[in-house]
Amino acid sequence: MTPQIRPVDHLVTAHRQSEGGGFIVRRPLPVAGLEMVDPFLLIDELGPIDYAPGQAVGAPDHPHRGFETVSYILEGETEHADSSGHRGSLGAGDVQWMTAGAGIVHAEMPSRRMQERGGRMHGFQIWVNLPARLKMTEPRYQDVPAAQIPQATTADGKAHVRVVAGEALGVRAAIATHTPIIFQDWELQPDGDATVAVPRDHNAVVFVFEGNLLVGEPGQVVREGQMAILGAGDAVRLRSGPDGHGRALLLAGQPHNEPMTRYGPFVMNTQQEIVQAFRDYQTGRMGAIAAKRD
Ligand code: CO
Repeated sequence: MTPQIRPVDHLVTAHRQSEGGGFIVRRPLPVAGLEMVDPFLLIDELGPIDYAPGQAVGAPDHPHRGFETVSYILEGETEHADSSGHRGSLGAGDVQWMTAGAGIVHAEMPSRRMQERGGRMHGFQIWVNLPARLKMTEPRYQDVPAAQIPQATTADGKAHVRVVAGEALGVRAAIATHTPIIFQDWELQPDGDATVAVPRDHNAVVFVFEGNLLVGEPGQVVREGQMAILGAGDAVRLRSGPDGHGRALLLAGQPHNEPMTRYGPFVMNTQQEIVQAFRDYQTGRMGAIAAKRD
């Protein structure tokens, strides 16, 4: 049976902007009129930005509850520390899939080396919602170095994928997700053509962050900075666009179809649960980051 290729339903355009502590981000989600693509809450492309020595900025201690944060680093190096004593660093190609669940306080900062010497930072942070039954789950980390992220290439060598979550071109992700999620970094060269199965019950988007791609059939051009919201079908087809080269994140997931209330770093089902999250954070029930002893 030939798969039904998902068409592009509509496009949203993300513009580079400066956030909070001076982050340069491109944010295709949320945008005006599009609060979420269930279960995805936020898609931030950080940079690329070239920091001079002493200028790199990060996100000091802050809490999260009720969802997952996925950090995918393309260039540069970050360090993280949290209230459960977890510490580590992420470099190019590494992925951290953090389930905040019931609550965690963490800091996400450029590495000391990047703070001192400067350098280029480029990556993604994606927020994935948790269903009501998992919002108060135990926090969990999956830190996966680049070498352990499965990759695959089409037989003609013109389409390449890094499979952070889900399955593509016969390879399956190393990361486990609480609910079915597809998270893939696709890179196409001229005449590249790839089709990947995406279950019919998933919502799916393609965010192009380099060059452009032809998405769907007969195919719509999606340019750098644009995100295509895909329509119904059971597969996604990506082909090289007019520029020849294109790179995009393919994100898809089974929607929770539940009420969603977000306030800053907390994403719950009800307003009352948000109030409780603030109370728990303020009374220290999400913990604090212990001082580094070295
Ligand atoms: Co955070």
